[in-house]
Amino acid sequence: ERCVVAVDGPSGSGKSTVSRRLATVVDGVYLDTGAMYRAVTWAVLQGGADLTDPDAITKIALETELSIGTDPLAPHFAANGVPVDGPIRGAEVTAAVSAVAAVPAVRKHLVILQQAIIGAHPRIVVEGRDIASVVAPDADLKVYLTASAAARAQRRSAEDATDVVATRADLARRDHLDSSRAADPLRQASDAVEVDTTGMGIDEVVAYLLKLLNS
Ligand code: CDP
Repeated sequence: ERCVVAVDGPSGSGKSTVSRRLATVVDGVYLDTGAMYRAVTWAVLQGGADLTDPDAITKIALETELSIGTDPLAPHFAANGVPVDGPIRGAEVTAAVSAVAAVPAVRKHLVILQQAIIGAHPRIVVEGRDIASVVAPDADLKVYLTASAAARAQRRSAEDATDVVATRADLARRDHLDSSRAADPLRQASDAVEVDTTGMGIDEVVAYLLKLLNS
């Protein structure tokens, strides 16, 4: 039976952990669209493209062969045959990804790939920034996860062992870039259910989403 769940929200809102857990529970697959933007960014940096040149970025993005893992327990990615799970979480990719994700031709290309994956896997949890609004507007459930800036920075720095003050500044910088860009800015879809996860544990959020899904 078809079950497409769209999970959008800013960094540190708990999207990845919740989405992977939910995909496992509903016996579906998982698509991390942020990892797709990150893998393309890795290739753009490898190619030495000027990050202020959208045509150079687009050229590399279209040439990059992505291998996109959808197993919620082990969602491995490769770009041009190179495993990139480590590097795509690194500081260089994180610093550049919002610029790459702002290029309309890159977004168009990745949205088509995302829609093909969803078409091939009708039971899927898809996480990102524009899933409910652009990628899967006919999803069965659309949620927008949020949390306070402090909670988001706390979670993210616990995950990657970075300084919480620096992380909070970086999240604010990316939130601003992601929500102010011209192409598909991060925003809550009007028909998405907003879940503020500030005081909630993972299990609690997952249980709540399951309830929404079954209601
Ligand atoms: O969880 P975190 O915010 O670190 O990032 P992510 O979900 O891996 O996404 C990384 C970046 O990719 C975001 O800051 C956005 O610039 C971009 N992105 C996007 O534009 N659209 C998506 N559907 C997913 C990510």
